[in-house]
Amino acid sequence: MSESNTIIGINFGTAYTSIAYLNKEGRADCLANEEGDRQIASALAFHGDEEVIGSQAKSDIARHPNHTIANFRANLGKSFADAVNLTGSAAPVVDKNGVPAYEIELPAGKSVFTAQEVSAKFLRHIRESAEAFLGTAINGAVMAVPSYFTEKQREELVAAAEAAGIKVVQLVHESAAAALAYGVGQNASNKDPQDKTIVVCDLGGHSFDVTVLAVRSGMYTVLATAHDTKVGGASFDDNLIKHFVAEFQKKSKVDISSNKKALAKLRNAVEVTKKMLSSGNSAPCFVESLADGVDFHSNVNRMRFEMLSKNVFSQLQTVIGEVLEKTNLDASEIDEVLLAGGSARIPKFALKIREVFGGEHTKILNELEADEVVARGCAIQGSLVSGFEKEDIEAAIHPVVTLAPNTTKAVGVINAKGEFVTVIPRGTALPTRRVFEFSNSEANQTHAYIALFEGDHIVEKVEVKAEPVQLEDDEEPYEEEPEILTKVFNKPAAQLVEACLPLENASKPKASKIEVQITVDAQSNLTLIMREKNGSKVVKVEAKK
Ligand SMILES: Nc1ncnc2c1ncn2[C@@H]1O[C@H](COP(=O)(O)OP(=O)(O)OP(=O)(O)O)[C@@H](O)[C@H]1O
Ligand SMILES: [Mg+2]
Repeated sequence: MSESNTIIGINFGTAYTSIAYLNKEGRADCLANEEGDRQIASALAFHGDEEVIGSQAKSDIARHPNHTIANFRANLGKSFADAVNLTGSAAPVVDKNGVPAYEIELPAGKSVFTAQEVSAKFLRHIRESAEAFLGTAINGAVMAVPSYFTEKQREELVAAAEAAGIKVVQLVHESAAAALAYGVGQNASNKDPQDKTIVVCDLGGHSFDVTVLAVRSGMYTVLATAHDTKVGGASFDDNLIKHFVAEFQKKSKVDISSNKKALAKLRNAVEVTKKMLSSGNSAPCFVESLADGVDFHSNVNRMRFEMLSKNVFSQLQTVIGEVLEKTNLDASEIDEVLLAGGSARIPKFALKIREVFGGEHTKILNELEADEVVARGCAIQGSLVSGFEKEDIEAAIHPVVTLAPNTTKAVGVINAKGEFVTVIPRGTALPTRRVFEFSNSEANQTHAYIALFEGDHIVEKVEVKAEPVQLEDDEEPYEEEPEILTKVFNKPAAQLVEACLPLENASKPKASKIEVQITVDAQSNLTLIMREKNGSKVVKVEAKK
């Protein structure tokens, strides 16, 4: 294998794992494993002493639950008391010295592997698949973690990866990786900072993770997160299973509601049905010998599926409501909503998101493959930091998510109409620098003046009474519902600094160009520097926190 500096991106999910690399054209792309899968099921099965992963292992869940383990990432970094036994997992979770583990029957007898050991075994196969595909050794990986991962979970993930021969160059938030894959804010400059507030909705197999990110000059800052690890793709499967269990009982008089093996077979089948419903209007579900030697064959259409999934959609909306409330943001203030996670491929999901973010200004970004964006973002980050020293990676001003302090209030100027004009939006990671220009308005103007203010973020709901309706002669009078309009604005609050610059070139209106540079350091101290282009004077004022 050749020497290289190959850093891949890995999204190690509870249900599926994907690997991305930078292709020859410099674009991030997901690679396929030996079975041709770009989404590799996060499952590990033992065939004798041989280990298999992905779809081969997943199909073993029903037949050989004692040799097969799924959803193990959910138990990384947890104590046995906090362990979860997710639906659709094979081998049950057991206690090994206080940590969650799995008991497996091997030819040599029973063996117990902790979630970290299983993850390491799995990730070793992932590394080998990547090396086989790329034909080169892997030097390292940028790996994604959900927003809700604890420090301990991050540590165990790194330990598992290192045990698998993967050097973890950096851990990034899944939401930031998704934003990076979409290139949000990546063409920013001091003069065009591309400020945006975005929401990343990641609907995976066993979780819904929503993050609000402030994008300021290409830096991402987490403003708030909310998640629910009890809802995800598996919840849609659960509803379909219930539906088909009832149908099977009706058709063949066999009750499988507590038949583990039959339920596991059905779970594999309904997942395929569900995926087909994302592109077609109806889909079959077939299981050979579901129970008592009886086959099951049925069909379901998309409308029925959406009706069966109503409870799931309302749970998802609750999580989005929560995160907006935490940031005190109105849905109309969000510039872009990014959809990520395999379950974001469900067409109704995008429609529901559109219902919440209905403002015409809000864009829903959905063009990239939802289940690939996180891994692709990791690969891009990998290419940005490859060749950096360890300390430099940690300090990289590249768009890793900062936990840096950020401005809690907007900073701006007041225009002639008395309105607040934002210069630095709230939620901007510190330190930050902004530059803008203005010119003199009058001939022979002697001074330029500027004052900076804080802005109070106001969300106002205004009730607009409906127009009275013209009634036909035979109609009963009725009341129209008033419309609620949401107005979001910054109200000028405390003055921070003011400055006055003598002008030398302002003989005619607009002849003088005045450059303003504002810096806010990590301690929130603000410095304003004003200078005239081709002039000799500079003023500098500071506001200490
Ligand atoms: N085309 C599709 N239509 C509907 N659902 C899909 C489609 N493709 C994948 N899924 C579902 O997406 C889920 C997996 O998504 P993803 O790979 O993002 O999860 P994960 O990252 O492993 O899970 P988590 O984020 O909960 O840890 C599964 O439930 C799968 O059935
Ligand atoms: Mg995920």
